Amino acid sequence: MFQSQAVIGITNASKNLALEQCIWPEDALNNIPDWVYTSQAVYDLEIERIFRGDTWNFVALEAEIPNPGDYKRGYVGSTPVVVARAEDKTISVFENRCAHRGAEFCRSNQGNTKEFVCPYHQWSYDLKGNLQGIPFKRGVDKVGGMPANFRNADHGTRQLRVTTRNGVVFATYSDKTPSLEEYMTKEIVDEFDVTFSGKTLKILGYYRNELPCNWKMYHENLKDPYHATLLHSFLVVFGLLVPGIKARVFADQEHGRHGYMASAKPQQTYATVSDDNKAEMRSFDENLKLRDERFVEFVQEFNSPWSACMMTLWPNLIVQREMNTLGVRQIIPNGPHSMIMQWTMFGYEDDTPEMTSHRLRQGNLMGPAGFLGLEDNEALKFVQDGLRRSSTDNNVLKLDSDQLGTTRGLISESCIRSLYAYYRGVMDIPVAGSAA
Ligand code: FES
Ligand code: FE2
Repeated sequence: MFQSQAVIGITNASKNLALEQCIWPEDALNNIPDWVYTSQAVYDLEIERIFRGDTWNFVALEAEIPNPGDYKRGYVGSTPVVVARAEDKTISVFENRCAHRGAEFCRSNQGNTKEFVCPYHQWSYDLKGNLQGIPFKRGVDKVGGMPANFRNADHGTRQLRVTTRNGVVFATYSDKTPSLEEYMTKEIVDEFDVTFSGKTLKILGYYRNELPCNWKMYHENLKDPYHATLLHSFLVVFGLLVPGIKARVFADQEHGRHGYMASAKPQQTYATVSDDNKAEMRSFDENLKLRDERFVEFVQEFNSPWSACMMTLWPNLIVQREMNTLGVRQIIPNGPHSMIMQWTMFGYEDDTPEMTSHRLRQGNLMGPAGFLGLEDNEALKFVQDGLRRSSTDNNVLKLDSDQLGTTRGLISESCIRSLYAYYRGVMDIPVAGSAA
């Protein structure tokens, strides 16, 4: 699949710009410069200003750590953290870095424990990340050991602020991040609550894959309805998203950083598409038929006008509700040219066995090799390949030009435009031709 893998490490030096060289092109709304996706300096600043800035980062589902002592390794941006439930049932998130010499001490992805013990010199931490024990603290026969004024309380792990909503756990490095609800904004909270209504979740499984593309491309992909009917022939042929369908591509009005792409599937299995629209879609193939039509069956279970909703919650979460397949995807940035996608698929604890089978069957749409997931993964790799090694350096963003925010139809890039307007502000990136 990835034929050009052999040359993946090669990036033109001119694409790895220093920060002071990063000036957005003059027509800022309708262009994106390549260095946004290729510069190491830009990436480093994103980790600092975005992932360790005033943002709530998804770290876990409560259903993954239901009992005292349960823990999970996670990430905030690219920073490894531990998410753990203490004896008092509270959830803590702390950096997976030993306060002694920096070892990533928690080595299992998930488990249950009374304490964390660093493998190197066996300093131990409680479930809130506080340092509890140091071997030979007073030395041997009073020779060596820690100074008398050493206090464990001054040397715990770095602990983050934590919040939850209806079973979903978020963490932030910043004291200034507002409440989660204020951060999300009302429309996003309403849509979030459709999937996370407070019902107990049942974890169905995980996928994890690397995408050889910049992490922001994944946000863009879910703010880009234009690609959906062109790249995903599956969506069109089986009537999940066709031109003219009832759909909404929404960007939060306050910042334009969060959003969702929602659509309402018509009843019939196969789409009716006008001849004019068919002519625009090269990948449309009316001979494709499903062997098992249950695959696209939608069992109405939500109080929502939409049968599908892909929500992006800045900076690292996608909430996926595609008919009855439910999941969260966590974006873990991994340098300018790579990201890790961690998928957690779930249902609800009160699902019937039939519903669980249905969710699992329909789950084949998603994941690294899913009927839909696969196509996006590959397209994003092609974009990163194209821009990292070429001599030109600009992306055109002119569909529905100059418009910002919630789109007026599917042939629009206005939500992507909003995201970058917000991004330029957070990153403090100057625009060519405007006063500093
Ligand atoms: Fe962890 Fe020394 S590095 S105990
Ligand atoms: Fe897609």
